[in-house]
Amino acid sequence: MKSNIIQFDKFNIHVSEDVFCPREDIDIYQNIFRDLIKNDGDFDLLELGTGTGLISIAIAKEYNNIKITATDISINALQNAKENAKRNKVNENIKFIKSNWFLNLENKEYNIIVSNPPYLSKKNSKHYQGLDDPDTSLYSKDNGLYDIFAIMFEAKNYLKKNSYLVIEHSHNQTLHLKNFSSKCGLNYNFTKKDVIGFNRISIFSNII
Ligand SMILES: C[S@@+](CC[C@H](N)C(=O)[O-])C[C@H]1O[C@@H](n2cnc3c(N)ncnc32)[C@H](O)[C@@H]1O
Repeated sequence: MKSNIIQFDKFNIHVSEDVFCPREDIDIYQNIFRDLIKNDGDFDLLELGTGTGLISIAIAKEYNNIKITATDISINALQNAKENAKRNKVNENIKFIKSNWFLNLENKEYNIIVSNPPYLSKKNSKHYQGLDDPDTSLYSKDNGLYDIFAIMFEAKNYLKKNSYLVIEHSHNQTLHLKNFSSKCGLNYNFTKKDVIGFNRISIFSNII
C-alpha cells in the first residue's frame, strides 16, 4: 500500500498508505450525478466511506451549490481526504466526520446519499489478485452484503423527500439489493454498468 498521486481531469488525489486506492473510473459517478443533481438552490449530499475523498471532491469541483458531508470509520482515510480537499481547494464545501456509517451523524436529511462501501466476500479473496487495499475497505460479512444492507436499511431516515441513494456493489449482488430495497422503504430505480460492462452502481429513491 504505497502512497501515490492519481491525476484526474480537473483535480488530483493523493492516496496515503493504508487508504483504499480509488479506481480511476470516477466518470461513472459523474454521469449519474449529472442526472440527479439540480443546479439551482441548496443541495445536501452525504458520502459514506469517503476514503481519499475522491467522490466528494469530484462533486465539489463540479457543483458549487452543494454542501457535502463525508464520513469514514478510518482516521487515516479522513486525514487523507481532508488533505485532498485542501489541495483541490474544496475544503470549504466538505465537512468530514468520523463515523461508523450513520452512527455519529446529526439528525439531518440529504438530497443524495452516496457510498462505495466494502462489498467483497473474504471467502472469495483468493480470486481477487493484486488488491493491497486495507481489508476493512474491501471485505464485508454475509457474502459481501453486510455493509451495503446496513446502509440501505437506515438510508430512508436521512433522505429528504424525493431523494436518492447511490450505492456501488459487486456485479452479482444487484438482485439482492433490489429485493432488499423493498424492506427499507426504497424503490429500485436503475443500475449503471462499469467500463467492463458489469453491473456496478445501483440507484434507489424514496420517491412515491
Ligand atoms: C471501497 S472503499 C471506498 C473509498 C472511496 N469512497 C472510493 O470510492 O474511492 C470503502 C471505504 O469505506 C470505509 N468504511 C469501511 N467500513 C466503514 C464503516 N463501518 N463506516 C464508515 N466507513 C467505513 C473504509 O475505511 C473505506 O475508506
